[in-house]
Amino acid sequence: VRLSKKHEQVILGSRSKEKSERRVQEILTEKGRPQFLSEHLKAGTNQDAASDSEVIIVTVPFESAFETMQNIAGLFHEGQTVISAVAAVTRKDKEFLPIKSERSVSESFKDLLLPTVNIAAAFQTVPSGALYMEIPIDADVLVCCDLSVFSKVSEIVSSIDGLRPLYAGSLALSREVEGLTALLLNIQSRNKIRNPTFKVNSYSV
Ligand SMILES: NC(=O)c1ccc[n+]([C@@H]2O[C@H](COP(=O)([O-])OP(=O)(O)OC[C@H]3O[C@@H](n4cnc5c(N)ncnc54)[C@H](OP(=O)(O)O)[C@@H]3O)[C@@H](O)[C@H]2O)c1
Repeated sequence: VRLSKKHEQVILGSRSKEKSERRVQEILTEKGRPQFLSEHLKAGTNQDAASDSEVIIVTVPFESAFETMQNIAGLFHEGQTVISAVAAVTRKDKEFLPIKSERSVSESFKDLLLPTVNIAAAFQTVPSGALYMEIPIDADVLVCCDLSVFSKVSEIVSSIDGLRPLYAGSLALSREVEGLTALLLNIQSRNKIRNPTFKVNSYSV
């Protein structure tokens, strides 16, 4: 919804075109059919999103992320930028825990894609509930990617009012970012704080 304010075409990808069409109509109804949404937000399949978009943001559960990317990997082409928002998180009893694996989700995506497709991890610490509400937000988005890819990711993050992109390191650091969501989910449930996020403070001396 927020991306549709600034970009002329945003495709809501899905495994099912019908489901995406239904969800786009629900969103239009929920948001009162503003012109920017009616004109910019389009329904599509994951395949449509992969082949037609300059930037693709992957927002599927950890368990299905690799398989989802495997199914569409062949559709990506040179110069596209894939941003993985997938968090590596599981739940044991009442606690959320990061899933420790050798390769992060975004590194595993890189393995599937052409080397000319850019890949980044970002948005793991931005709660979707807050994004969907019509409220001002103020959050930092920790971005892990090659430094050469950061400006493109930064452009997308900055196109959402209230989000500040921060370069947090190369893709080798993405596992750390993907694990942070577990901390936020515990902060939410244990401290009764709704939609928590991270904001980096600094003090000039
Ligand atoms: N929610 C948040 O606030 C938040 C914040 C930061 C990061 N994340 C991360 O972003 C990702 C998505 O989170 P979410 O809360 O949006 O999850 P979600 O609502 O459970 O799933 C998002 C979409 O993924 C698709 N999906 C579900 N199961 C699938 C499967 N087995 N195979 C392929 N696609 C499947 C579904 O789309 P279709 O049925 O239309 O295909 C679903 O609408 C997760 O990795 C999460 O950790 C979430």
